Amino acid sequence: MSTNVFTTISRLATCLALLLFVAFLFAAALPAQQPPQKAATAAIPVEAAKQPNPVKSSPESLTRAKKWWTIDCAMCHGTNGNGKTDMATDMKFKLADFTDPASLKDRTDGELFYIIKNGYQNMPAEGPRIKPEENWDLVNYVRSLAKPKSEPEQKP
Ligand code: HEC
Repeated sequence: MSTNVFTTISRLATCLALLLFVAFLFAAALPAQQPPQKAATAAIPVEAAKQPNPVKSSPESLTRAKKWWTIDCAMCHGTNGNGKTDMATDMKFKLADFTDPASLKDRTDGELFYIIKNGYQNMPAEGPRIKPEENWDLVNYVRSLAKPKSEPEQKP
C-alpha cells in the first residue's frame, strides 16, 4: 500500500516538474511571440524595395494614374498632393507634402509601389483593386507631383 502511495506521489512530482518546465518554456517563448503588427506597418521587404519600376513615366501613364489618384488618393493627399486636406485634419494624419521634392527622395519606386499596394500606417491598401501596371502608374504620378514646374525631370 505504502509503495503505491509513494509511486503516486513520485508520479505527481514528475508531472508537476514537467508542467513547470513547460510553463517555463512558454514564458521564455512569449516575448519573442508578440502579436503580429498590422501588416501595413511592417517594414517593407528589401526585395520589394529593390523592385525596378517597369512602367515609364509617360503622359499616358500619368493620365491613367490621375483617374485612380482622383478616386482613391486625393481625398487624403489632396488633388495636388500637398496633404492639406480636411480628411487629414479630421483624422489627424501627418501627411507628407508630395509637392516638395524632398518628401519622397529617400523612397525607391519599389517602396512606393509596396506602400500603395499594401497600405501604410493609417493609409488603406489598394490591394487587388488596381492592376500592377496601374499601381506603377500611381508611383509615377506621386513622383510627378514633386516635379518642379519649370524644369520637367521625367521623360515626356
Ligand atoms: C485614408 C487616407 C489615405 C488615402 C485614401 C491614401 N493615403 Fe497615402 N497615406 C496616408 C497616410 C495616413 C500615410 C502615412 C503618413 C505617415 O504617417 O507617414 C500615407 C502615406 C503615403 C505614402 C508614403 C509617404 C512617405 O512618407 O513615404 C505614399 C507614397 C502614399 N501615401 C500614396 C498614396 C496613394 C498613391 C494613394 C491612392 C492610391 C493614397 N496614398 C491614398 C493616407 C491615405
